[in-house]
Amino acid sequence: MWEETFKNFPDSKPHGPSSVGVDISFPGFEHVYGIPEHADSMALKTTKSTDPYRLFNLDVFEYELYNPMALYGAVPVMMAHNEKRTVGVFWHNAAETWIDISSNTADKNFFSKIADIVKGGSKEIPQTDTHWISESGVIDVFIMLGPSAHDVFYQYAQLTGTTNLPPMFAVAYHQCRWNYNDQDDVKNVDAMLDQYDIPYDVIWLDIEHTDGKKYFTWDNDKFSQPEEMINNVASKGRKMVTIVDPHLKRDDNYQEYREARDKGYMVKNKDGNDYDGWCWPGSSSWPDFANPEVRQWWASKFHYEDYHGSTPDLFTWNDMNEPSVFNGPEITFHKDVLHMDGYENRDLHNMYGFYVQQATAEGQLVRSDNKERPFVLTRAFFAGSQRYGAVWTGDNMAEWSHLKVSNPMLLSLNLAGITFSGADVGGFFKNPDTELLTRWYQAGAFQPYFRAHAHIDTKRREPYLQPEGNMKVIRHAIRTRYSYLPFWYTLFYEGETKGVPPMRPLWVEYPTDRDTFSMDDEYLLGTSLLVKPITEPSQTGTQVYFPGSGEVWYDVDTFKPYNGGQTTYVEAPLSKIPVFQRGGSIVPRKFRIRRSSSLMVHDPFTLIVCLDKKGAAKGSLYIDDYHTFNYRKGEYLLRDFSFDQNEFHSQSGDQFGNFSTKEWMERIIVVGLRTGPTKAVLKVKGEERSLHWEYNSQTGQLIIRKPGVNIASDFSIKLS
Ligand code: GLC
Repeated sequence: MWEETFKNFPDSKPHGPSSVGVDISFPGFEHVYGIPEHADSMALKTTKSTDPYRLFNLDVFEYELYNPMALYGAVPVMMAHNEKRTVGVFWHNAAETWIDISSNTADKNFFSKIADIVKGGSKEIPQTDTHWISESGVIDVFIMLGPSAHDVFYQYAQLTGTTNLPPMFAVAYHQCRWNYNDQDDVKNVDAMLDQYDIPYDVIWLDIEHTDGKKYFTWDNDKFSQPEEMINNVASKGRKMVTIVDPHLKRDDNYQEYREARDKGYMVKNKDGNDYDGWCWPGSSSWPDFANPEVRQWWASKFHYEDYHGSTPDLFTWNDMNEPSVFNGPEITFHKDVLHMDGYENRDLHNMYGFYVQQATAEGQLVRSDNKERPFVLTRAFFAGSQRYGAVWTGDNMAEWSHLKVSNPMLLSLNLAGITFSGADVGGFFKNPDTELLTRWYQAGAFQPYFRAHAHIDTKRREPYLQPEGNMKVIRHAIRTRYSYLPFWYTLFYEGETKGVPPMRPLWVEYPTDRDTFSMDDEYLLGTSLLVKPITEPSQTGTQVYFPGSGEVWYDVDTFKPYNGGQTTYVEAPLSKIPVFQRGGSIVPRKFRIRRSSSLMVHDPFTLIVCLDKKGAAKGSLYIDDYHTFNYRKGEYLLRDFSFDQNEFHSQSGDQFGNFSTKEWMERIIVVGLRTGPTKAVLKVKGEERSLHWEYNSQTGQLIIRKPGVNIASDFSIKLS
């Protein structure tokens, strides 16, 4: 009796229409953020003249920009910030959700703004009002009171968990396309990247690698020797990823399908039969990942004996897990399909993809006896998905506007806890011109998750196929990513322990600076780097806002100083990525770039010490074996570095970690030193030794060569 139709799709609504909603006001706040995923600005807009922001996981073909429409993932978390305080709200509901936003200041019409001016300015306290409504479920709301953004991150992490420290390879560069055609193609791409000295860590196989889109299988003609192929890649410390989507081809000869069907594991129609929909393989059914038993079964499919041709160097990509159903309403499940215990998809829609990734990550854990860290990329997600791996922003386009929107999209994801996130470098649909591709690599190299990907109908665009000039710039961007891997890894460790995102809006660290509240074309990495990617064509420079009056920032390539608290034009020809290090910070890097990150594990560090105006700086470095869980048993090192009054110190950052490594200190570069020393004396284990150094009085840069100390040792260097 309650049945409704959407287009020609019936929704039986057996329980009748329902909704739950609440109004949440933020008195004193003009800026609210979060509630990804939308292709929109970071500071959320009022929805007076648009639809509300919608959270309903969908596979959207050629999505529109600056639009509140729903995309692949949903995190019902909002943050509000003003000069005094940051707060957060978590609306814990996985049904379709809409959020309306209004503001007494932003929504003022022209006449009331004029009236305010005539009255000598409005005395009204700004307020943002939000209305949350979900189609089913209960009201389960968490208010996070801050008072700082860091506090809100921590409070939210208590509820949904943090991004688990990824294995190092996952933080490096990923080479993907739909599709690498066969095992020779893989071998060739691998060899060409080597030939051009372009490091990469992971090469990916999309749906065409399977036998008829049956996941966990291989196309026997094109990939007849999967293990040999993976081992060849792995011989250089690299990994592979295969795609494993959640739709199972309805084919009696397909073991995974047969088993799930026979065990009654599939999602059901309202009439109790297995749901049948269309996806890549044609007619398909979907396991009910909401059921823990089904997740356990799925996880067991990643055992090496079950997934033939897989090896410990093979990891996973979960796509189409909104889920995407080509012939379903809005390209997804009918809302009345049934999960375990009679729950409708309506009740938990936004968590389906979460469960798929959870089960897949579990599969990688069990296959390694819980020793190795998993790596799973997902397209659909919900609050808490950060615990199971990385997220990418789906099918973007090779257009400048899509490069530009990747920054606010990733900032919103980072604010909502989904910190290991990135966008397809180069753009998925269409062919980027060489300038766009080059700028995209430069941007991607400074975003948390860094993968190039392209649609099957696009021209091949691996970096070595670019004109020489562009190839070199792209290579440099990728190599720069590798040089910063120790810094990224330290950020991810901080993320796992404290819930803070690596990629941060400026206001997180400069909370009283109103100018930063809507800024989403530049951002911080941790507290040390400021990044302003070039996202428009034909640019040879850009205006950069340097936060923090009284502070100083240094260009990471030239060490040219810029004063904080002002906007300055910075040259950025095609070869240049505008990135700046904060005076007062110490950033660890590795400069011996090799073919993959795992070939760099024993390599030495260079510290970049950028001094503040008082001549001081601080920083830290986290180290472990870069791939197992042994760090949770204490096998790690946290090093604290400081420079003050011409003395550098390296000491243990906590009393728990203990790990032995061959990594050592190769070089310390001190930037912003007013006068050069006459001596640099290293003190380690009670012994003293003079070090070689060079000072450039023009740039104020001091290079201290070869302290040669193991990174685990405490030591100091005194300049006099
Ligand atoms: C979806 C994914 C895309 C992938 C394609 C084929 O469109 O978003 O990344 O290449 O499916 O699997």
